[in-house]
Amino acid sequence: MKALQVELGERSYPIHIGSGLLDKPELIRNHIAASQVMVVSNETIAPLYLDRVCDMLSGYEQHSVILPDGEQYKNLDVLNRIFDALLEKRFNRQCTLIALGGGVIGDMTGFAAASYQRGVSFIQLPTTLLAQVDSSVGGKTGVNHRLGKNMIGAFHQPRCVLIDTETLNTLDDRQLAAGIAEVIKYGLIRDTGFFNWLEENIDRLTGRDPEALGHAIERSCINKAEVVAADELESGQRALLNLGHTFGHAIETATGYGTWLHGEAVSTGMAMAADLSARHGWLSGEDALRIRRLLVRAGLPVTPPESMSKTEFMDLMAVDKKVLDRKLRLVLLKSIGEALVTADFRPDLLNETLEHYHQKAS
Ligand code: NAD
Ligand code: GLY
Repeated sequence: MKALQVELGERSYPIHIGSGLLDKPELIRNHIAASQVMVVSNETIAPLYLDRVCDMLSGYEQHSVILPDGEQYKNLDVLNRIFDALLEKRFNRQCTLIALGGGVIGDMTGFAAASYQRGVSFIQLPTTLLAQVDSSVGGKTGVNHRLGKNMIGAFHQPRCVLIDTETLNTLDDRQLAAGIAEVIKYGLIRDTGFFNWLEENIDRLTGRDPEALGHAIERSCINKAEVVAADELESGQRALLNLGHTFGHAIETATGYGTWLHGEAVSTGMAMAADLSARHGWLSGEDALRIRRLLVRAGLPVTPPESMSKTEFMDLMAVDKKVLDRKLRLVLLKSIGEALVTADFRPDLLNETLEHYHQKAS
């Protein structure tokens, strides 16, 4: 078992990574302040893991709320079901919420915890690779709006993140690949050595080698924890974690939430960001190709849907949270392992990238 720490002063918290951790109640019980505990999960994950989590919580006044499964349910209407359950059970401000699931459940539970009675505690038990390497760490919580992805939310840090790598055994290959997209992202934005390791070990990851998966999760969490500790509220370098996301969120919104997986959209977005970076002469053409090849080997898409026009991309990208003073800012690459956030990209080159990808798709 590995333990890391997200260093945020009095709001610091541990990330435990290991196999079979859902049978180690002592790792979460220390982080539950009072008797009331609400587990939030969904109809796919609950039958697999809820009983084990309830066993970990024996002795507490525990309840659960089971949401429908899917990105299309990550909205304010469905969020209300968590508040309904908390109020019906008379949960007070000392209660703890527990997110058992992937990024959708984690983001929604975290947002419910951020806003219920102006803020209660929560714990993350992430069960997808994507949630284990990214969304469970760092305290970004929220829901989607019809007009934009993750547009309603709050920063609210969990008390503890418990990653049981065994839960990946029930995750399908498409979801595993979606998580690998976020793993590759860390190599691209700040960890050249990790990118090189991924090039050598990608087949072990897609083949579910436990040692390789454990290493990738740990290295991703180290990277994420360092970035969050340095810039919790995204006034600077945390925005780099959004490599590929401006293009990717546009794809998710355009195609209808849940059609493209988040990681698939990010993969395509990273390929597009690499293309645009190469057009600026920052990234070499050869490195842009290396990135594309790695994503393809991970089983990820690198071309946006044919239906998306240049205008649709531009309209949807204008709703991005990185837009400042109506100016679009993009995360681009200077090299593999070094990224920047900039509004000083050339609009004609962005146009060329969108044109190029539109032709590729059709
Ligand atoms: P998800 O939560 O929809 O989970 C993917 C699918 O896998 C779902 O059908 C789920 O029920 C199923 N599942 C989960 N665990 C399983 C298991 N162990 N076995 C079998 N099936 C399982 O998707 P995701 O990829 O985990 O998360 C994507 C979401 O995370 C998006 O909404 C994205 O915006 C968000 N996100 C948030 C952050 C953040 O910092 N807060 C970062 C990245 C992504
Ligand atoms: N996933 C982006 C962030 O946590 O900032």
